[in-house]
Amino acid sequence: SEEFKVKRQRNPIEYMKTRVKSIQSTVEKLSRKGYETSIESIKTNLHDMAGIRVICSYVDDIYAIADMLISQNDITLIEKKDYIKNPKPNGYRSLHIIVEVPVFFSDHIESVKVEVQIRTIAMDFWASLEHKLHYKSNVAKCSLNIKNDLKECADIIAQTDMRMQSIHEIVEKLEDDVELRKIKI
Ligand code: GTP
Ligand code: MG
Repeated sequence: SEEFKVKRQRNPIEYMKTRVKSIQSTVEKLSRKGYETSIESIKTNLHDMAGIRVICSYVDDIYAIADMLISQNDITLIEKKDYIKNPKPNGYRSLHIIVEVPVFFSDHIESVKVEVQIRTIAMDFWASLEHKLHYKSNVAKCSLNIKNDLKECADIIAQTDMRMQSIHEIVEKLEDDVELRKIKI
């Protein structure tokens, strides 16, 4: 992100959020999935102890950032889930990649898995609200309505993201033409 700010006209990364999974939710997840609770078990069974969410403006930025990340020498791709091409039934969209990165300690190097979720601002807006739904116990009564509504919003957001992408491409081309004309003058 810092490099983009210096080298390019536009930084495709709007902002990033990072988090390390809390001890409580680590233990909960291990037991939910039937794994034993130990450091070794965490290393083999959990790939989202470290999580980074990258928020972009446009859908094409998502794939560009993923490709850039994966092509780095020190990063190994473990898994890729494209919930943009294949949205979840509830309408959830994002690109998820699990990568392995070397972390340098004072006396050894350790490979650490990181879950990277890359999505647009609009997808993030939707996912934040949808996520809240899971924590509301009194939502059951009206949940079908809300779920249908959210699904509809997810589809509208996806269409809007595509339209914004197209408009952005036209605007960029217009900008390039203006720059070109300036050079000619
Ligand atoms: P977990 O066992 O939860 O890790 O699922 P998984 O291993 O199948 O991973 P997946 O890539 O499906 O989802 C991992 C993370 O993506 C979740 O912890 C959420 O942060 C996010 N996510 C996935 N599905 C949804 C969804 O339907 N709604 C929202 N709001 N977030 C989601
Ligand atoms: Mg997960």
